[in-house]
Order: sequence, then structure tokens, then C-alpha cells
Amino acid sequence: MIQPDFVWGAATSAFQIEGGRQLGGRGDSIWDVFATKGRVPGISLPGCDHFHHWQEDLDLLADLGVSGYRFSVAWPRVIPDGDGEINEPGVDFYRRLIEGMAERGIDPYLTLYHWDLPQALQEKGGWANRETVDAFARYAGVMADRLGDLVGNWITQNEPWVAAMLGHLEGVFAPGMTDWETALTAGHHLLLSHGRALTEISERLPGARVGIALDCRPATPATRSEGDAAATRHFDGYRNRWFFDPMFGKGYPDDMVAAHSDRGRLPDGLDAFVEPGDMDIVAQPIDFLGLNYYTTTEVSAGSEESESGDVPPGPDPPEGYTEMGWKVDPKGLTSYLEEIHDRYRPTSVLITENGASYSIGPGPDGVIDDQARIAYLDAHVRAIGEAKKQGVPVDGYFVWSLLDNLEWTQGYAQRFGLVWVDHETSERTPKASFHWYRELIQSTTFTSDA
Ligand code: FCB
Repeated sequence: MIQPDFVWGAATSAFQIEGGRQLGGRGDSIWDVFATKGRVPGISLPGCDHFHHWQEDLDLLADLGVSGYRFSVAWPRVIPDGDGEINEPGVDFYRRLIEGMAERGIDPYLTLYHWDLPQALQEKGGWANRETVDAFARYAGVMADRLGDLVGNWITQNEPWVAAMLGHLEGVFAPGMTDWETALTAGHHLLLSHGRALTEISERLPGARVGIALDCRPATPATRSEGDAAATRHFDGYRNRWFFDPMFGKGYPDDMVAAHSDRGRLPDGLDAFVEPGDMDIVAQPIDFLGLNYYTTTEVSAGSEESESGDVPPGPDPPEGYTEMGWKVDPKGLTSYLEEIHDRYRPTSVLITENGASYSIGPGPDGVIDDQARIAYLDAHVRAIGEAKKQGVPVDGYFVWSLLDNLEWTQGYAQRFGLVWVDHETSERTPKASFHWYRELIQSTTFTSDA
């Protein structure tokens, strides 16, 4: 297994790049069903079609010079109904992909869950049903058995806040539910499933490194008023601490348990879904904390549960924003890394996602001169350097994303890739940012301690 001092990488996820949704025995996921309700524009286009272009994508990664590649396994491709038979062609697809990484000297970082729950499990209650945790633990064990000889780095869950809250409270992501208690229950089961999967993998693969990718939205108060300070603390509790605290053995934050109870969101208390022993399973030591960072939020009284600093997504964003409507705030990354270092002391942090959406396309000469993306990435890499100087053990950086892929409910309207993809033909063209990143990887020598 390759263990360079600092891992330079790129990231993708299965549903966003694979295509081949009806091929090779894959079952439906909750996102396939969400798409049938018109919630995923562009779903019928060929898109990245990585299912057929995976060798080309590995060649691109090799050309880029990354030492790590973060990708995800589609659970419904390997166990179509979630807890039943194993689909051998699905397992073979990932084995070939990972063997292809080894041939190119690229270390795999395998994410087990990047939001594509098998629909058959959703029909039994999905993440709100505790049995889904058992199914996930089994899936993790199956993957460790089948792929563990090739994979040393495992990421259990991707962004449990997003899966729980956007999927079960705000209803804007699959499965599209809108209920507080369901969302908090699903969130707990996502965390618990991380711990259960960690146990399954570590028992089988004692040398493997296992972590989780948590999303974050660092928050600052809009003014120095007491109301804004309190709102910021609440936002941080709702958006960040509710997931980070349990991971690091602090349990669910008391102030937020009280706030949720006061607002009638926990009618039966935490005991409705937290069973004895759960919090210890969640808080088992991890080998690395994956952090997905894009932006920060300014909070004022009354907006303590909304990401109100965003502007609407779309082309031609205001100065200082990306096309996702997210503010560019590299300093926020440095300060949040310092904050989590102080608060939780993770032994190792990997930035498992960071990147920017700009639709800059081919010019008349065919060149894709995405200077805005280069500026964004450059500033964030520097921000990591600052945090490392302050002693935060950041050991890797994965650009989101290798390819212009399917950005969930925004379809192909958002382009995060280092590589341009024509979504009608699946043709790939590296952008200026691709060449910039390759140069950066060759010339920047972050080590583990500086
Ligand atoms: C993250 C997701 C990833 C991608 C980026 C832009 O929340 O993990 O799949 O959509 O945002």
C-alpha cells in the first residue's frame, strides 16, 4: 500500500459518475426513484458514463499524478436489494476498477455510502429503520471480504448531516421526507452504521485505515450582538456539532438536545432511537477524520437553522461566490481546522472534498481556461498549509471533483470538474485547472509535520 507523507487526490461518487444504472444487475437506489419524480434534471443524458469509461478515467488520474483516488461503491450495484444476494458482476466491476488503480500506482480511498441507499431498504423505512444499520454493517463486511486485499483506506459514510437533514427534514434530497424526528433518527442510524461498519472492517482487515467524511459549515455571527452569537452557536450545534461531537465521544450536545426538545422535535427524547451502547459504537477511534469543506455561513438571530449566507445558484455569481451560490472563504478552512483540532484532537485529517463550481467551458481554441477554479483551489491549499503550520495534522487533500458530474438535484448545471465532460457524448477534456493541479502535486511537498 502506498503511504506518501501527504496524499494528493481527487474525489468522485458512484451515482454522480457511473451511469449504467440498469446494467450489470444493479438495483435501484433512492436517487433513481427521486429521479423518476423529476428531481434530478439531466438524468437521462449519457453524462460521465464512467461505467464504460472507467479505464479512461483511471488514465486521467494517472496523468494528473494523484497518489489517492476517493470513489464510492454503489451499494445497490453489489447488493441490489440491500440485504440479500450479492451481485457478482457488480463486485467484479469494482475489483477491476481497483486493480486498475494499483496498476497505475494510485491508492484507493473507498467510500461505502455516498447517499445511494438501495430502494428496497427505503421501502422498509430506510435510515429511519434501525434494521438498515444491520444491513449496512453486513454490506461493509462483504466489501471488506471481497475488496479488502486491494483497499487500505475506507470511508464509511459521506456527509451524514446532508443525508439526514436534506433527505429527511428539508425533503430536497432523496428520499424527500420532511419530519424532524425522522431526520434525527436517520442521523443517529447513519452515525451508528459508521461505527458498526468500522468494527466489521477492522475485524477483517486489522491493517486498514477507516474514517468518515463529515461535511461542515463553519459559522460566524453577522454582528457582535448577543442574539447573533446565540444564533451562531445554535447553527453550529444543528449543522456541525450534532455529528462531530458523538464521533469524538462527547455524545449529542446538551444545548441542542434541549433546543430540539423545547421545539417539540424529540417527543420521546433521545431514547426513542439511542439504545444503550450506541454512543460507544459511534465513538470508536477512527484512523482519520475526513472533512468536506466548501464554504462558511454568517448567522444572525432568526436564521439559526438556515444557510442564509448563500446566494441563489446559477451562472454569473456575484464576486466572491461560486456558481453553487457558495461564498469563497479559504480562511474559514484554516480556522475550522484549528477549531476541530482544539475541540476533538483527531489524529489525522484528510480534506476528503473541496472544490468549486464554475461553468467556464472551451474557448474558440478548445482550451478551457478555468482560472476561477484555479484561484479557489490554490487559496484552499494555502489555507491547509496555514493550518499545518499551526500543528493541525492534515495529511491529504482530495479535489472535488475529477469530472464534471451529476450534481444531484442540480443535474449537470453545476460543473466542479478538473476535467470537462460533454454530457451528450461523454467526451472528456482536461481543463487548465487539471494542468495546474498536476504541476502543484509535482512541486509541493507538504510533509506530515509541516
Ligand atoms: C458534497 C457532496 C458531493 C458533491 C459536492 C458538491 O456535499 O458530498 O457529492 O455534490 O457536495
